[in-house]
Formats: sequence, C-alpha cells, structure tokens
Amino acid sequence: MRTTVGIIGAGPAGLLLARLLHNAGIGSVVLESRDRAYVEQRQRAGILEQGTVDVLRAAGAGERMDREGLRHDGIELRFARERHRVDFPALTGGSSVTVYAQTEVCKDLIALQLKEGGPLLFDAEALAVEDADSEHPRVRFRHEGREDVLECDYVVGCDGFWGVARKAVPAGLSRVFERTYPFGWLGVLADAPPSHDELVYARHDRGFALLSMRSPTVSRLYLQVPEGTDAGSWRDEDIWDELDRRLETDDDWRLERGPVTAKSVTPMRSFVHEPMRHGRLFLAGDAAHIVPPTGAKGLNLAVGDVVTFARALVHLRATGSAERLDAYSETCLRRVWQAERFSYDMTTLLHRAPGAPPFEDRIQLARLRRIAASRAAETDLAEAYTGFPFE
Ligand code: APR
Ligand code: PHB
Repeated sequence: MRTTVGIIGAGPAGLLLARLLHNAGIGSVVLESRDRAYVEQRQRAGILEQGTVDVLRAAGAGERMDREGLRHDGIELRFARERHRVDFPALTGGSSVTVYAQTEVCKDLIALQLKEGGPLLFDAEALAVEDADSEHPRVRFRHEGREDVLECDYVVGCDGFWGVARKAVPAGLSRVFERTYPFGWLGVLADAPPSHDELVYARHDRGFALLSMRSPTVSRLYLQVPEGTDAGSWRDEDIWDELDRRLETDDDWRLERGPVTAKSVTPMRSFVHEPMRHGRLFLAGDAAHIVPPTGAKGLNLAVGDVVTFARALVHLRATGSAERLDAYSETCLRRVWQAERFSYDMTTLLHRAPGAPPFEDRIQLARLRRIAASRAAETDLAEAYTGFPFE
C-alpha cells in the first residue's frame, strides 16, 4: 500500500487531519487499532474553543455540531460556598466556547471519511514507523491477522499517549517534560438535566468537583479521587452525596440527581515530548502532549497541531517552500506550552493534593479571590479558556 500521508490513529487528531487533507486534494490512509464502535463510544471531554468550532465548520464537519452543540458564554468558579461567574465575551472581546462531546466530533468525522474520504482502516494496528528520517518513511501494521506495510511521503503519528509513533524518534534526540498528579477524576454520565446552565468548577476542602453536561437532559460530572481509585468502588448514592458536599452554596442552588449510566476514572498528567517532528514523521495530539483535563484543552490542542501540519503541507505544494513544515514543531510547541501552563494553573488552583499544608489552601483561596476581584486576573483565565488563536 502507498499514500501521501500515512496517519496512525483515528481519534480527533487523525480523523480531522484526514478530512483537512481530503479537502485539499491530498491523499491519506488512516490506520486505527480499535474497532469503530469502541472509537465512537469512548467518553472524553467536550469543550470546543471558538477556533476549533471554526475549523470543524470550515472542514464541512460542523453540521450536527451547529445543531446540537451548546454555546457557553461563561463558567462558574465555586469556592468557600461562594459563586463567581467568569463572563467570556465581556472579557475577551466576544469569544465563547461550545459544549459538544469529543465522541460526537469523532462520529461526525468518521461518517464523512467513510463516505467521501480516503481509506480508514479499523482493527489496523501500527507496529512501527520505519525510516522516519528518509524520503520514504513506512508504517508496518497488522490488519485482519496479516502484516502489511504502508509506504508514505509523510507519516503523522496521531496515535495518542500509548501509541508507537513517538518511539520512532531516537532517544538521543527526544526530551520529555512530565508531571503526574497524586489524584485522578472519577467521571460519571447521568440521565439528569444539568444543575446549572454553565459549567461549574468547584474548589472544596474535600477536593475538586466539576459539573458539566452533554445535552439538556444529560449531565457529566467529575470528582477528584485518590490516584488509582477503582470506579466500581463508588456507589451511585455516594457519588451524588459527595457532589452535593463539594458543590454546596449559601443560596438555594440544588443538584439534580438521576440514573448514572457510565463511570470511569481518568489519571491526571502533564506531558510534552520535544521535538514534535523527526524527519518526515510528525507527532500530533496526545501522541506528543498530554494536559490534565481541568482546562479542557486536550482536543483543542490536537486540532491546532493537525491544522498546522495540513496548512504547512498545502503551503509546500503551492509554493515549493518547506519552511512551514520545517517549523512545525516550534510552531505547535508555542501553543502547547501555553495550554500546559493554563491546565497546570487550573489543576493546582482547584485540587487538593493529599497532605498539602494548610498554607496551600489559603493560597488557593487567595488566587480564586484575586480572579473574582481583578478584571486583569479574570481576563487571563477567560482568554486561555476560550483559546489562543492559531498561528
Ligand atoms: N496503531 C493504530 N492506532 C493506534 C495505535 C496503533 N499502534 N495506538 C493507538 N492508536 C489509536 C487509539 O486507539 C486512538 O483511537 O490512536 C487513537 C488516538 O486517539 P486519541 O487518544 O483520542 O488522541 P488524539 O486524537 O490525539 O486526541 C486528543 O483525546 O485523549 C483525548 O484529551 C485528549 O481530547 C484529547 C484528544
Ligand atoms: C467534560 O464535559 O467532559 C469536561 C468539561 C470541562 C473540563 C473537562 C471535561 O474541564
């Protein structure tokens, strides 16, 4: 098999890249190790920056998002039983975000790719990227029990944190920057109307809680739990009681309860692999970087990477200049590190590390009160949350 761009992984990064290349008349093949049902059911975050919405719409993948996505003009910070709303458009000159689940983005892109795009192979596991720094990189993969080779002009590793693409960068050229956190998120999906019309991020002495949503009838809720917690060890009643405690206010706000339909625990980590390019191998999305979910940046970063790659390749074809492709890693990393900074800030602002000295509790409250009192501090949060423009 041969193609122009070999794409490993059919998460949001790989799927959107295939779509962008298809629209530009550039051939690609997507290899995905899991089956279609698995990819379409995986629960992930669901906040799209304005720039992400614009890209999906321009790519012709925004029809259902425009119908079903919920525009949000702010978030609420909750701490010490107080409530503070951050008004995005007022602070950023008009920006907002859209609540539309990553699984839905993937379903839309898969349907488009199968209908109009190049090959998208499920149950096709990439085993290794070979000769990444030559003119003809290859992906060795296994599909339907047989080993095969995909010959490419470029390979883009969109295969997530656990993928194989990153391993093709020689150890001597790689640098990894990493931090793990001693807690995770217990996430639940519930058939309950959202208890507030915007997301609520709560800091509490018992730990962080987040109230999010998927639709006017489905809530998505999270609780900070100790690292390594088994989701099954939490009974539904205990989850609701704990959410009630961490989200408590002094007014008449009430948490809506309903049947829990899914439960899982996500670990929290910050991770960046530099560089994001080696020869003709490019890393995009979670394959190159991970953020803790507190700032909802994961998907938006993946979109930034693949847009940067697609534009650079189109530029090369139009002008003969590889300048933008050569600058891929530096261009992406500038944006990546801003999102890393923001996600780290939000995580340390709102979570309670086990054994943290009481001094840290006071500092967290002081930081939150600063955001509530200072338009400058609040604007910094609003700009980062709604997203920095693509370069
Ligand atoms: N061969 C083929 N496919 C692979 C391989 C492999 N060896 N290893 C992993 N994959 C697939 C996974 O099954 C998955 O479908 O690559 C895909 C990677 O997708 P994601 O993990 O969703 O990563 P990405 O597309 O970069 O999206 C980033 O996902 O993890 C969230 O919060 C993150 O929202 C962010 C987004
Ligand atoms: C979600 O709805 O899943 C979600 C929202 C905001 C976050 C993380 C996850 O910061």
